[in-house]
Amino acid sequence: MSIIIKSDREIAIMRQTGRIVATVLEILKEQLQPGMKTRELDIITARELKRLGAKSSSKGYQGFPANLCVSVNDEIVHGIPGERRLIEGDIVSLDLTAVVDGFQGDSAITVGVGEVSPPARLLMEVTREALYAGIAKARSGGRLGDISAAVQGYVEPRGYSVVREYTGHGIGRQMHEDPQIPNFGLPGTGPMLRKGMTLAIEPMVNIGDWRTRVGDDYWTVSTADGSLSAHFEHTIAITDGEPEILTVV
Ligand code: MF3
Ligand code: CO
Ligand code: CO
Repeated sequence: MSIIIKSDREIAIMRQTGRIVATVLEILKEQLQPGMKTRELDIITARELKRLGAKSSSKGYQGFPANLCVSVNDEIVHGIPGERRLIEGDIVSLDLTAVVDGFQGDSAITVGVGEVSPPARLLMEVTREALYAGIAKARSGGRLGDISAAVQGYVEPRGYSVVREYTGHGIGRQMHEDPQIPNFGLPGTGPMLRKGMTLAIEPMVNIGDWRTRVGDDYWTVSTADGSLSAHFEHTIAITDGEPEILTVV
């Protein structure tokens, strides 16, 4: 395993990519409405990325056919946007990876369609907060396991489960670099964190059990028990001080 350290110049490029990814996700969130086909989100993504001078990294990645992943309700990640129409009360995970000048940015949000049920709203809130709990541990001198443990330690006491078969990851010139970043683990274990590491931290949280299954399209990952799932992700850089979130507007 080798973790690639980025220079300040490279991180400056990733800041630009991150801003574009965050901008497109904000636009998608604004545009989301009941009755919309998930394919329309893909079309908006293609248009906005082009306008902003970025390219989707998902399209064509191991044959993935769309510009972003759209995962609805019990779908966790890697949903393919298509003819499905969103309805009031759905929760939708939008996961966008894009590249500018050879450097990747990766971020995901889960948003409600219109009014959503209190349990669904709470799930989204806990998953988002778990991401920030993980990010807070992304500090030089700490260990990778500190991030994993912080996510798990936020989620499980609240009665939810963390998905175990998919992880966060290093990110840079490649969408997926070392190290893998599980959403569970032990503090004080794993590689030492250092300034210049760039990481995609991405808790996937289920109301029910952590087990998953892959759909007939060979992409869509859903909860095995049919329970709701949420997903939040940021690309961050480790600095001398506070972690820097790169996927912000
Ligand atoms: N954005 C995903 C991640 O968080 C990966 C996209 S899978 C793809 O790692 F097939 F859509 F590219
Ligand atoms: Co992602
Ligand atoms: Co990712």
